[in-house]
Amino acid sequence: MLINILFLILILVLAVVFALLARAAWRSRFRVVRWLGVLLSGLLALVFIAVCVVAALGLVKLNTAPYQYKATNISVTGTPEQVEQGARKAELCVGCHSTTGKFPLDGSSENFLGGEGPPLGILYAPNLTPGGPLKDMSDVELARAMREGIGKNGRPLLVMPSKALHNLSDEDTTALIAFLRAQPAVERNPPERQTTLLAALLVGAGLFPTSAQPPIEGPIITPPSGTVEKGRYLVYSTGCIDCHGDNLAGIPPGGFAPSGPNLTAIVPKWNQQDLINLFRNGKDPTGRMISEGMPWQEYNAALDDGELKDMYTFLHGLEEQPANQ
Ligand code: HEC
Ligand code: HEC
Repeated sequence: MLINILFLILILVLAVVFALLARAAWRSRFRVVRWLGVLLSGLLALVFIAVCVVAALGLVKLNTAPYQYKATNISVTGTPEQVEQGARKAELCVGCHSTTGKFPLDGSSENFLGGEGPPLGILYAPNLTPGGPLKDMSDVELARAMREGIGKNGRPLLVMPSKALHNLSDEDTTALIAFLRAQPAVERNPPERQTTLLAALLVGAGLFPTSAQPPIEGPIITPPSGTVEKGRYLVYSTGCIDCHGDNLAGIPPGGFAPSGPNLTAIVPKWNQQDLINLFRNGKDPTGRMISEGMPWQEYNAALDDGELKDMYTFLHGLEEQPANQ
């Protein structure tokens, strides 16, 4: 944080220096110096000021909650049924929150801001067993982290799929928390989050969204099984929209978000067994093995046949939309 503010001050100083240069050039006796100097220095001064403003905005977005959140009515008793139901939902957390790709959810071994690209910082998915930060978090704070994307420290989370989890019902949220707390305690603490000024710049420019969501008002009820509403609920609360778009008409490749095809053009042409096969075996109706980009194994573990059928009912009934550009 301190280093980011130092960088910010440095950029501000550069902006002032170029502004002063532009002023000096303006007073020059030579026409060429005057116009070129004003143009170049002025332009650079403006660029540095813009960078400063956007990065400062990003630092604010990264460190302060964008809304006032109320305590929701979440309290967890931890019955065996809840733990069992939560275990299935928690299959959707395994890909990020585990070193092994299996339970327990002992935290990631991967730095989500690492890799080839520009230096953005350090971000590990925390240990979600009672040996991690969980032991100091209330049920309400855990529910807020999942569904509203705000950490215990009141700071927006990054990379956490809270946009989808925002739709998770109170019942499923409670079950998940019951499961998290029922896991064996693993003592493992991945490094704390650190973000560079470049990350702040991307966040400030709106290119890298935080996970913060609007406050949840009132209870969210799981729709009854065997209905289109249940299918819609599952599609919208389990993450399909993260890759297939808010309207399920796909996300084109090339951006920050992972990209998946237009479901409104695909599933209406499928029969129920086609969709079940996709999730159970990873094969589409032509027998082609689908790519790693589609996390079907996690869904295979998380969804039972009834849930897949409900999802099919909803997806099959979608009206075809033109693919998102
Ligand atoms: C795409 C990867 C990803 C998935 C999937 C994911 N998480 Fe996270 N989660 C993260 C990362 C990264 C953080 C750390 C974010 C930060 O500190 O900014 C995090 C943080 C958290 C926190 C900590 C909040 C805090 O205050 O310390 C909780 C609780 C949590 N996740 C629960 C879950 C649960 C439950 C699931 C499954 C339903 C889940 N996550 C799925 C990546 C993920
Ligand atoms: C992490 C990103 C991601 C998530 C989450 C995701 N998908 Fe996908 N999905 C993909 C990608 C990538 C493909 C293309 C895979 C291929 O064709 O090889 C795909 C393909 C598909 C296909 C079409 C397969 C074909 O053969 O044309 C269907 C149907 C589908 N997904 C449904 C879903 C549903 C329903 C969910 C939520 C339960 C979901 N996906 C969640 C990334 C994702």
